[in-house]
Amino acid sequence: MSEAFSYRADVLHCADVPLTELAEAVGTPLYVYSAERMRANVERVRAAFAPLGATLHYSLKANANLALLRLLHSLDLGADAVSGGEIERAIYAGFPPQRIVFAGVGKTPAELAYALDVGVGWFNVESRDELRTLDRLAGERGVRPNVALRLNPGIRAQTHAHIATGHLGAKFGMAAEVVAELLAERAAYPHVHIGGLHIHIGSQLADVAETVQAVRAAQALAAPYADVRVLNVGGGIPVPYRADAPLPTPQDFADALAPLLRGWRVKLEPGRSVVADAGALLVSVIRVKRQGGRRFVVTDGSMAELLRPALYGAQHPIVPLRRSEKATEAAAVVGPVCESTDVLSQDAPLPPLRAGDGLAVLVAGAYGMVMASNYNMRPRPPEVLVEGARWRVVRRRETWADLRRLEVET
Ligand SMILES: Cc1ncc(COP(=O)(O)O)c(C=O)c1O
Repeated sequence: MSEAFSYRADVLHCADVPLTELAEAVGTPLYVYSAERMRANVERVRAAFAPLGATLHYSLKANANLALLRLLHSLDLGADAVSGGEIERAIYAGFPPQRIVFAGVGKTPAELAYALDVGVGWFNVESRDELRTLDRLAGERGVRPNVALRLNPGIRAQTHAHIATGHLGAKFGMAAEVVAELLAERAAYPHVHIGGLHIHIGSQLADVAETVQAVRAAQALAAPYADVRVLNVGGGIPVPYRADAPLPTPQDFADALAPLLRGWRVKLEPGRSVVADAGALLVSVIRVKRQGGRRFVVTDGSMAELLRPALYGAQHPIVPLRRSEKATEAAAVVGPVCESTDVLSQDAPLPPLRAGDGLAVLVAGAYGMVMASNYNMRPRPPEVLVEGARWRVVRRRETWADLRRLEVET
């Protein structure tokens, strides 16, 4: 179980808040996040990478709640954005534009123009066409933005196929030949400063050696150019979900990279490692039914609130809010959405449950609420931030009226 969540007198707590009481007060489903855990996670990554002098850019895609962003900004992080919307949000939350890095394979000319106008610090460029467009737009504006070319090193990381990004079958980055050509032709892009390379070979990376290999490939390409010494090594630091084999820690990554990166200015884009284990999705049991020899625990949480199990087969630990001494039995924890993939866990070991009992889907702080949808006309859940014994709703539950708000009725 993640350290943000622990049992006291058989009641699951987030820091000092009993989650049975929180679920009662706010209703379920709801997301709950521990401020302390996020701070500790940032410190862990920062301490590990401090000897490398790395700058940290929190990856908004993992969780872009404003209160969380303000907290992370107060910890002196930069931001990693992948859309105009994320840039706007990062700035709104207080991140200085110069400390934002802008990544993404499909930046539109309008997004590039917006990012130039607000003064984004670094552009992680993913194609020759993007570089041409950025150079033209920068020239029109009389500015000269920093560019890191995103290398696709052709490494298939040992992670879920859907989150491996560093192999040439993936849409991300540019093959080594293209990066080499662009570096050699830098003079053809006078309105940008190509000062670095970027890699991100996947999320939830299980093997540090693959990152080392990718960094070496990037360094070999940059070697002839003494002024290309920024290396953005992306995100990918893994967190344990359920029954994971031992995974490398931030320290393991930093230790493996430190000997290589002397003399380089290092950037890091952590997302999951900052927020994942700080968050949980609380749900309530609607009913239990047995069918085909299985126990189905039907909850008010679903793939609309937490898509990861349906999208990636992600295995989140699920635990009761009130611990019981009774023997556990595997349960399929499912939601009310009309899809066979609406399963939060295929086989969670859980005690006997009845309607009204609360459950916590743990390690749900990253890629949870950001992917929530209104499928089946489900209002998105509220988000609660916990600090010690205090909690506050930092995003309210949507209402049915909210779901109509943007419709144009004639
Ligand atoms: C370019 C880039 N940087 C950073 C991240 C964050 O990765 P993680 O959440 O694994 O730290 C991602 C995630 O997909 C990414 O695509």
